[in-house]
Amino acid sequence: MKEEEKERYFALVEEVRCHDHAYYVLANPTITDADYDRLYRELVDLEVAYPELCTPSSPSQRVGGQAVSEFPDHCHAVPMMSLDNTYSFEELDEFLVRVGKLLPDESLDWTVEPKIDGLAVSLRYEDGVLAVGVTRGDGVSGDDITSNLKTIRTIPLKLRGESLKVVEVRGEVFMSKMGFTKLNEKRRAEGEEPFANPRNAAAGSLKMLDSQAVAERPLGVFLYGLGEVSTEAPVPDTQVGVLDWLDQLGFPTPERIWTGRTHDDLVVSINELDADRHGLDYETDGAVIKLNSLALREQCGATAKAPRWAIAYKYAAEQAETVLKAITVQVGRTGALTPVAELEPISIAGSTVSRATLHNEEEIQRKDVRIGDTVVIEKAGEIIPAVVRVIQEKRPKGSKAYTLPKGCPECGTAADKAKGDVVWRCANPDCPAQIRGRLEHFCARGAMDIEGGGEVLVRQLVERGLVDNVGELYKLTVEEVASLDRMAEKSAQNFIEGLEASKERDLWRLVFGLGILHVGAGVAKSLCRRFTDMDQLMDATENQLVAIDDVGEVIAKSLHHWFGDSQNRKLIEVLRKSGLNFQSALYQEPSKAGPLSGKSLVLTGTLPNLKREEAVAKIEAAGGKVVGSVSKKTDYLVAGKDAGSKLAKAEKLSIEVIDEAHLIRLCDK
Ligand code: IVH
Repeated sequence: MKEEEKERYFALVEEVRCHDHAYYVLANPTITDADYDRLYRELVDLEVAYPELCTPSSPSQRVGGQAVSEFPDHCHAVPMMSLDNTYSFEELDEFLVRVGKLLPDESLDWTVEPKIDGLAVSLRYEDGVLAVGVTRGDGVSGDDITSNLKTIRTIPLKLRGESLKVVEVRGEVFMSKMGFTKLNEKRRAEGEEPFANPRNAAAGSLKMLDSQAVAERPLGVFLYGLGEVSTEAPVPDTQVGVLDWLDQLGFPTPERIWTGRTHDDLVVSINELDADRHGLDYETDGAVIKLNSLALREQCGATAKAPRWAIAYKYAAEQAETVLKAITVQVGRTGALTPVAELEPISIAGSTVSRATLHNEEEIQRKDVRIGDTVVIEKAGEIIPAVVRVIQEKRPKGSKAYTLPKGCPECGTAADKAKGDVVWRCANPDCPAQIRGRLEHFCARGAMDIEGGGEVLVRQLVERGLVDNVGELYKLTVEEVASLDRMAEKSAQNFIEGLEASKERDLWRLVFGLGILHVGAGVAKSLCRRFTDMDQLMDATENQLVAIDDVGEVIAKSLHHWFGDSQNRKLIEVLRKSGLNFQSALYQEPSKAGPLSGKSLVLTGTLPNLKREEAVAKIEAAGGKVVGSVSKKTDYLVAGKDAGSKLAKAEKLSIEVIDEAHLIRLCDK
């Protein structure tokens, strides 16, 4: 390789890194996308030509590597503590008095920062390069999720600055509100269960074992503190200084920070943040008040769980009072009877709320909710509105405790409750509400995605007696559909065309669309990865089903029971005759049988003869799996020259360490 090429490569790395920082961290791009793409391409081309140039901190190394089977444990150099919470300004004052007593001779400076509602992580840089990224875990050790964290574009892979031996930074990974909304839309369209709120979405994303999938999740991070630091450079001695330093090193930090001395200063800042926080693109559930001086923090110390020098002031979820006009009961497709509070409409957390779920009968009894009551409704962020409590003083005279009608409001059949369940269900599978529910579910975007098959059309189809199961949908004619109220010929045509198109859908959508109890889209996909077609799935034994990822005993029983029912078998035959696709496009060949099948191996160091890719290919050909890091589940560590921490870890966990020659013998067995 020519010297100029080498120089060009290192210049490109620096240049791309700078543009990444400007674009992702500062949100202030310095070149056009096309120019950036050209630089990036040139960098990658050089890495392809000279793989020895590429290091883990290259801008090209954010996504890659294989999925892992679990995350290894990583012990924090400095424990990650939690925070004590306060919910009122009186409690805040008590906190200030407490700290004042610990530091009687000092005049204290405080900072106020947003409390970001995400997941705490620790990033450890060695010689300026990201070495490991870890979840908080139990505070002492957490999961090593480095490969997932590297996919977050605002996390620098290399720090700006010199002589940085060890820099450990602490912060919060979150999902932006906008990213969360888009992700949930996509999940609904693909039949996946939407996430309840951005925090769960961020947590779910970081837990994924395949970093390629994590890279698609809209995650962000803010860094707000330090762990272990060992550097020749001067280290700041205040929180304000820490955030400045983190900025200089290239990290994203909380957009706003306030400083103050008195209780009143802090109250003003906390209220200011409260007024602004709904406009931020990430969820904040409070303000964090911290002593500014790091030296004084040392003097305060910590309890077992939290530092004495900081506290979280938590904002209350938005609440509002309104009158509960009625309780209606909805019948779901599985017959579940769900009580719903019909409310005097009220504006709360930016939207108008006129209904709130009451979950089930036990919940109503526990809260003693009655018709006519004035109730407190709560809505936090993206969470579904809920009835929190009743205002007893406002209860009208003569009100009666509510009991859920034990008959189905739709067909009058007596409701059933299984042992241990809290849900009452209509026991009549022919209940029109259940029939409608099953048909709507089948047509829904997340299932068979049949245009026009919504509530209004389905209701008429059932009322007119045209359809009472999903098989009959495919026998409908344009004339029949066009004869329904408010149904133009064109819309009828579209619906029939939608049904026709749905015959080609992948098998998992059909399996999910059938509405089998406990079989969500995720389970349907797992099933379709394992079975080539509907016939294999129908005839699977409970044991075969339980062996599949995501399928437990309850799901296996439910599937077995559903496919064992003669009516359901008939339905499947009708669908087959109508020409629906029964083949699974998701099917994956199980990993090959071979001398290493079922074995998990980790490679480390340089092997004498085999290149890394060659070793991986050999192991995979022998049925084994190569994972990125050592854990209790690792069967062998294949160690070459200059093996580092993985070797130490394997020895600690008593995992068998083998060399190249031993590996070749195992593969060729
Ligand atoms: S400081 C030792 N600052 O809140 C003090 N924490 O409830 C460590 N959090 O585990 C925390 N925003 O995950 C700090 N600006 C902020 C924060 C913050 C969110 C989280 C953090 C912590 C949890 C405690």
